[in-house]
Order: sequence, then C-alpha cells, then structure tokens
Amino acid sequence: MKLIAQGAESKLFLEENKIVKDRFRKTYRIGEIDERLRKSRTKREAKVLEKLQGIAFSVPKLIKNNGKDTLEIEFINGKLLKNILNNNNCIKLSKEIGDKVAILHNNGIIHGDLTTSNMIFNKEIFFIDFGLSFFSGKIEDKAVDLHLLKEALESKHSGIWEKCYKSALESYAEKAVDGNDVLKRIKIVEKRGRYKHKKCSENQQTN
Ligand SMILES: Nc1ncnc2c1ncn2[C@@H]1O[C@H](COP(=O)(O)OP(=O)(O)OP(=O)(O)O)[C@@H](O)[C@H]1O
Ligand SMILES: [Mg+2]
Repeated sequence: MKLIAQGAESKLFLEENKIVKDRFRKTYRIGEIDERLRKSRTKREAKVLEKLQGIAFSVPKLIKNNGKDTLEIEFINGKLLKNILNNNNCIKLSKEIGDKVAILHNNGIIHGDLTTSNMIFNKEIFFIDFGLSFFSGKIEDKAVDLHLLKEALESKHSGIWEKCYKSALESYAEKAVDGNDVLKRIKIVEKRGRYKHKKCSENQQTN
C-alpha cells in the first residue's frame, strides 16, 4: 500500500484501484471521545457516499466500511481541482461546481468542506471527503456550505476567485429548489462573518 495523502484526520493509501482512508488516533483527544469521533465521521462519510451513489452523483464508489475507522473507496484517477483551476477553464468548471452543489442540497446533503482539494476532475468533477457532511434541508446550512466554498476559492485561487464564485452561484441558483432564499441568506452569513472578524480585531487591539 502506498501512502498518497495525509490530512489532518486521516491517512490515505492507494492499493491497486482503491483508496484506503484510515482515520488515525489523535493522541491529544481523550481515547473514548477520539474513538467515537472517528467512528462517527467514518460512518457519516460511508452513509453519504452510499446515498449519492444511489442517485448517480459523481462520487467514488464505497467498497468497504470496517464499521470503525477505515473506508475503502474507489480511486478516482484524475487531477485535484485545486491544481487545474485557471483563468481559462474557471467559468465552465465553476458552473459545474454550482450545479453539483445544488444537486447535493436538493437531496438534503450539506458537504461541510467544499474546497477545491475535495474535488477531483476526471472528464467531470467528482466530490470527495464527506467526513464533515450531514443531512439537512435548512436554508442556513446551505448558505454556510456555499460561504465556505467562497472562502476556499478566495484563499486558494486569488485573482480568479470572484469569477469562479459568481459562476458557481449563478448555476446554483438556477438548479437549487430554494436557490433565491439561499442566496439571500448568504448575504446575512457574510455580514455575520464580517462582524465576527471586526469584533476579533477589536479585541486583539484592546488586549
Ligand atoms: N477516491 C479518491 N481518489 C483519488 N484520490 C483521492 C480519493 N480520496 C482522496 N483522495 C486524495 O487524498 C486527499 C485527501 O483525501 P480526503 O480529502 O478524503 O481526506 P482528508 O482531507 O484528510 O479528510 P478528512 O478531513 O475527512 O480527514 C485528497 O485531497 C485527494 O488528493
Ligand atoms: Mg480533504
């Protein structure tokens, strides 16, 4: 088995045509809590992958779940969106992102970590990393999901992020059942964010 990635929570190994995603122990957490957390994220990811496979959404197939901390999933042999998004392709790719987030949301799934490191391109965009996903139909949860996408684009794709985000939101609004309400809510989420940032920096100045 070849180690191909190590995130904050897990190690990913490539074995033939499958990925073994192993959520490792975090020694700074209390043992019991750590075990519960790893188990629940693994379970969550497996459940969401299965549901998405059922509606033919582009995700890697779930091969095996050990019921604890390890998943085996199909290897998607493509490129991370983070590494290929550029000025020429960003409108088209972001449109596809917006479309696909709308499908997730229309099916009551919030991704929870919409970044371009969690998307792989192979003829089309595959979404991965559902460890922070959850089921919800709330406008607020959908708006926060998209706000995280904005922050991810802003930090990793400076120069083109505005163009990308605009294109993603446009296609999202077209396809999402409550698109207009979600877009309105994003504005509120953003205001709240700015207020928090402002408070933070004020506190830093006075401390
Ligand atoms: N099915 C897959 N096919 C190909 N590459 C994958 C696949 N799953 C993950 N990867 C690669 O491994 C990296 C990390 O995977 P992933 O995002 O699932 O883990 P993570 O960020 O550590 O997740 P978590 O936050 O749930 O612990 C991805 O960015 C991608 O490069
Ligand atoms: Mg990830």
